[in-house]
Amino acid sequence: MCRRFHDSREQARALSLMPYAFHNTTFAVRYHVSMKAAVYHRYGPPEVVRVEEVETPNPGDNQIRVRVHASTVSSGDWRARSLEVPRGMGFAGRLIFGLFRPRQPILGTELSGIVESVGKDVITFDVGDKVFADRGTGMGAHAEYIVLDEDAPIAGIPDNLSFEEAAALCFGGTVALDFLQKHGDIQPGQRVLINGASGTTGTALVQIAKHFGAEVTAVCSTRNVDLVSELGADHVVDYTSEDFSQNGEKYDLIADTAGTAPWHRAKDSLSDTGRLLVVLGGLSDMVLAPIRSKKNGKQVISTVAGSSAERCRRLAQLAADGIYKPVIDRVYPLEEIAEAHAHVDTGGKVGSVVITMPILSA
Ligand SMILES: NC(=O)c1ccc[n+]([C@@H]2O[C@H](COP(=O)([O-])OP(=O)(O)OC[C@H]3O[C@@H](n4cnc5c(N)ncnc54)[C@H](OP(=O)(O)O)[C@@H]3O)[C@@H](O)[C@H]2O)c1
Repeated sequence: MCRRFHDSREQARALSLMPYAFHNTTFAVRYHVSMKAAVYHRYGPPEVVRVEEVETPNPGDNQIRVRVHASTVSSGDWRARSLEVPRGMGFAGRLIFGLFRPRQPILGTELSGIVESVGKDVITFDVGDKVFADRGTGMGAHAEYIVLDEDAPIAGIPDNLSFEEAAALCFGGTVALDFLQKHGDIQPGQRVLINGASGTTGTALVQIAKHFGAEVTAVCSTRNVDLVSELGADHVVDYTSEDFSQNGEKYDLIADTAGTAPWHRAKDSLSDTGRLLVVLGGLSDMVLAPIRSKKNGKQVISTVAGSSAERCRRLAQLAADGIYKPVIDRVYPLEEIAEAHAHVDTGGKVGSVVITMPILSA
């Protein structure tokens, strides 16, 4: 029987549901056969990541399948691939990523793309929606397709962002909102220092701290001084020639994304009620944080940023309003995934390293 569709969107949706509806049929098998993905089967250097053909995932009733257009190689991907984790976190790292080998062979913590099919109970998204999403430690975004729960951290892409920019919204943006607002209780007029201001999390922290009305001091190396100023930093400390902990200034919040401003170095630069936000720290920072916080009015917060659909929508709004724009260092096609990892391994990326899927890089 031939069915007429009212518009191309309805037709696209019906076609995209067919493989799901007949998922045991030859048609479904052919339709879903395989996709390209960057896969790793053991921990190690960039070369352990290779592009392979893997099975295309199918959405369940409450899931959507997204045709991925872009993703990033984040510092999270670097840690999951190399198992280089902060001091004392080795066992925790293996528990998260896989005891003897990677549990999730496809890296990729964040993505942008277009909804390509939806499960029968999905009501929030429709085929054709442009979305970005945060996968966190669930990963899997370095692939042509990804299946996501409808209520996962996903939001629509604002019109003023490219797929490349949208793919880079979450990793830094989530850290910035979580640490500054939830844990830092940032207030207008406060003095905020961002140590490691030029990376993915640092560039987001600078922009979003400015949005909250803070007076921002950015700490970075010489080559990134102009960048962080352009992002809105009121003051810049070039750590190659100046030590922020020795200049006598006091800050209400110090966010450390570089791991070079631990408690013993930062405490005298905090105001009487100041908070040290440990974005990058070892196990001891996490364990000792509550003890150190009780000693005086100063606090240490060492935690892992949490993601949600609500937070993604907030980031989308900040981007739509021109308040937060991800900084992009380099863009690599999926085929050059090992080169992208090698660049991230230098530890000197500026903002985010983006991966484009064949649909964009063709
Ligand atoms: N707690 C959480 O929830 C959470 C979430 C996400 C990420 N993280 C962690 O946060 C860290 C940063 O992530 P990221 O993605 O922003 O990394 P990134 O993009 O690689 O940026 C790190 C930055 O640190 C700067 N840096 C290096 N040495 C420095 C120093 N001595 N003083 C000041 N800055 C220095 C570098 O800038 P220059 O080139 O200017 O030196 C670099 O841009 C990672 O280790 C990651 O694992 C934690």
